[in-house]
Amino acid sequence: MDLDQTFIQAPEHRADSNFIPNQPEEIPVIDLSRLNDPENIQNVISEIGDACETWGFFQVINHGVPCDARKRVEETVKIFFDLPMEEKIKVKRDEVNPAGYHDGEHTKNVRDWKEVFDIYFKDPMVMPSSTDPEDEGLRVVYNKWPQFPSDFREACQEYAGHAEKLAFRLLELISLSLGLPKKRFHEYFKEQMSFFRINRYPPCPRPDLALGVGHHKDADVISLLAQDEVGGLQISRRSDGVWFPIRPVPNALVINIGNCMEVWTNDKYWSAEHRVVVNSTRERYSIPFFLLPSHDVEVKPLEELLSPENPPRYKGYKYGKFYVSRNRSDFKKLEIQNIQIDDFKVVT
Ligand code: OGA
Ligand code: NI
Repeated sequence: MDLDQTFIQAPEHRADSNFIPNQPEEIPVIDLSRLNDPENIQNVISEIGDACETWGFFQVINHGVPCDARKRVEETVKIFFDLPMEEKIKVKRDEVNPAGYHDGEHTKNVRDWKEVFDIYFKDPMVMPSSTDPEDEGLRVVYNKWPQFPSDFREACQEYAGHAEKLAFRLLELISLSLGLPKKRFHEYFKEQMSFFRINRYPPCPRPDLALGVGHHKDADVISLLAQDEVGGLQISRRSDGVWFPIRPVPNALVINIGNCMEVWTNDKYWSAEHRVVVNSTRERYSIPFFLLPSHDVEVKPLEELLSPENPPRYKGYKYGKFYVSRNRSDFKKLEIQNIQIDDFKVVT
């Protein structure tokens, strides 16, 4: 079957490129219930630190997000995505407000084989009204909620509340792993732009040519992803760029480092490229929670982590402007490659 041109990945980015199917090396799975044992706290913290440095990815189990809340949201969103398109586009995202349903997202200018629904954690949320660095205007944006299923909103908000709590717990552990005070990062989240997303990857007639999400790094601080049992998420290993699958572990959450944490730690912690491979028979769902700072935060390497031997590798950037610029290219194909974190690298 023919596939629309817009979905076709360049040969070097396709699912079979540089891929190790029989994962000889495991991305760590960390049991957070060990934090209840005072003798184990330091071990957990250093395992998290090692994972952030080596992979930029790890999974957590016994993480405190109740299975019931997750199950409820999974069941509810499936009812929504199974509705006819006329219903779904009633809550469609637009160029001004990125919340809601969308099926035309592009990553690196190639269309993704997926449908998404985006929900702000804070409703309303404040974001810059333009990408222009001189323009200080702000816009207040609201979530869009479908009429049906009627408990969509409640199920999503309940789950997001738990996910956010865990995000801040992990942020504290990450801070401790860097030798910083537990709450070192908290000041950056006064007007957090965090959001969460429901991804549905339909079966694809040509999984050899298209991807569910093309290779990318997350533009946030950390991401917490619930994936179902189908599998398809792959990450690129820091040391050599080889792709490894993230094995679905029941009730686990996949945690990864985003661009902000990479910049704050001056590249000590790694924001790994990742992508989603699709298949021709089974649909797949995933629910990421993206922890984002406030729009007015200037993201730059933390002074405490710098030294004459470790000079800053990034110029600072205003988080909100970076976010709205990134969003613009997600929405449609652009003629040029959109802004990436490497654009803020200090050239040495
Ligand atoms: C994302 C993402 C992975 C997945 O939405 O940014 O990387 O498994 N998703 O859905
Ligand atoms: Ni991602």
